[in-house]
Amino acid sequence: MPPALLGARLENTGELYYPSSATAIRQSASFPPPPIGYAPAMPHILHEGTAFDQITVKHPGGFEVILYNHAGAIHAYRNSCPHVGVGLDWGTGRCLSAPNELQCALHGAVFVADTGECISGPCYGQSLTRVPIRVEDGKIVSE
Ligand code: FES
Repeated sequence: MPPALLGARLENTGELYYPSSATAIRQSASFPPPPIGYAPAMPHILHEGTAFDQITVKHPGGFEVILYNHAGAIHAYRNSCPHVGVGLDWGTGRCLSAPNELQCALHGAVFVADTGECISGPCYGQSLTRVPIRVEDGKIVSE
């Protein structure tokens, strides 16, 4: 797949911004909608200045990507739980449940956020699929 822009740095802010077209998170027809009141506005800014931050974006290739910032290091994974393949975030865009932990909303699997390894839950020992990215001139680009 050719490189694709996932986000760009806002001028003078230390934040990575994702255009609205890249943040259209699906409400999958094959997956029940989140409970009423469960879906806040989709976050579309990754705050580089924080120790831990996470958003979910739509890749131009048609799949979703979890982007996770750990003290300036950006990690990217397919938003697909190794257990049954649904998005971890249940449509909210968020799955960061604790510092350096991503949690699947469906059955509660917990992943180490900077390695993608599942350390608790039904897919224990499996891993999220890493999406190769690079940060170049204030832009996050898939490789
Ligand atoms: S679908 Fe993620 S833990 Fe079951």
